[in-house]
Amino acid sequence: MTQIRSVVLGCGSYLPERVVTNAELAARIDTSDEWIVQRTGIRERHIADDDEFTSHLAIKAARAALAHARLDPQAIDLIVLATSTPDNTFPATAVAVQHGLGINHGAAFDLQAVCSGFVFALATADNFLRTGAYKRALVIGAETFSRILDWNDRGTCVLFGDGAGAIVLEAQTQPGKTSDSGVLTTHLRSDGRHKAKLFVDGGPSSTRTVGHLRMEGKEVFKHAVGMITDVIVDAFNATGITAEDINWFIPHQANKRIIDASAHKLHIAPQKVVLTVDKHGNTSAASIPLALSVAVKDGRVKKGDLLLLEAMGGGFTWGSALVRW
Ligand code: ACO
Repeated sequence: MTQIRSVVLGCGSYLPERVVTNAELAARIDTSDEWIVQRTGIRERHIADDDEFTSHLAIKAARAALAHARLDPQAIDLIVLATSTPDNTFPATAVAVQHGLGINHGAAFDLQAVCSGFVFALATADNFLRTGAYKRALVIGAETFSRILDWNDRGTCVLFGDGAGAIVLEAQTQPGKTSDSGVLTTHLRSDGRHKAKLFVDGGPSSTRTVGHLRMEGKEVFKHAVGMITDVIVDAFNATGITAEDINWFIPHQANKRIIDASAHKLHIAPQKVVLTVDKHGNTSAASIPLALSVAVKDGRVKKGDLLLLEAMGGGFTWGSALVRW
């Protein structure tokens, strides 16, 4: 039976110009390139200028995605922007992006699921498109995590970076098979019992400040692989798709050891894993569309390829998506 699917028309990304290497961090705090690379796989990250906001990064990524899709911004009637580092407490950064793109119809809103934000935003947009409520959506992950880092805390500040990525989705009628183009399935989970393991120690209602990121790294690591692989198995069970069918595994880029262990547990071959954590660090909600854009640009991802996306982050939240390019 035919089915409406959210088909990907294009993707794009933007990284701030300034690159900060591990060596540069080691000159400022008690760390080393060797420690950071061995524990995380990160070698460098991009950091936004003081006058460069999350919305600015998002607008550049959105423009790139629209150009890749060969689409005028006016064709977009839904913007879902995942971020934990909005320009302001309100209005939503998505509204600034909407305005920056010259769009004043449809709806635009932010979504907060920390590092899982892009998968949550993709699932949200997909559900709106499949009901027929909207026709074309921009799904954006954009972050300036550098603003909420405690630059004296070596356990966290070496891990994160800034950036933005976006995709354009269009509702299209498809045959209703797993060979269809577009989003085939999404699976979202959260469990607030873990909320104190990775959080920001400030907020408008509690401290009236922005706060800094705090993390029990070992605790996050302990739960990550199990949660990630469980929610991917949910996606496999829902579709009958297996690890062998996957062309590209495009995980949230938090830590190479988490990615390697997840791929290993799922029997996904290392050559199918898209890795950008070395160059981008953990850009939270932006990391999946940033990695996707790299793999599309360099020609790895081709029309018809089956992509497996996953993320896990603060909350904890975690999720997976299967998307045919
Ligand atoms: N440089 C040098 N030494 C450091 C650094 C650093 N940047 N950071 C911590 N250390 C030290 C610690 O002080 C500690 O020293 P001690 O033994 O003298 O007390 C030692 O290294 C070991 O510290 P641990 O925190 O136990 O190190 P661990 O091996 O757990 O690695 C890490 C830390 C990399 C954060 C790891 O726990 C991890 O990857 N966790 C997952 C967290 C993650 O990826 N979070 C991202 C957000 S969540 C997400 O997106 C999935």
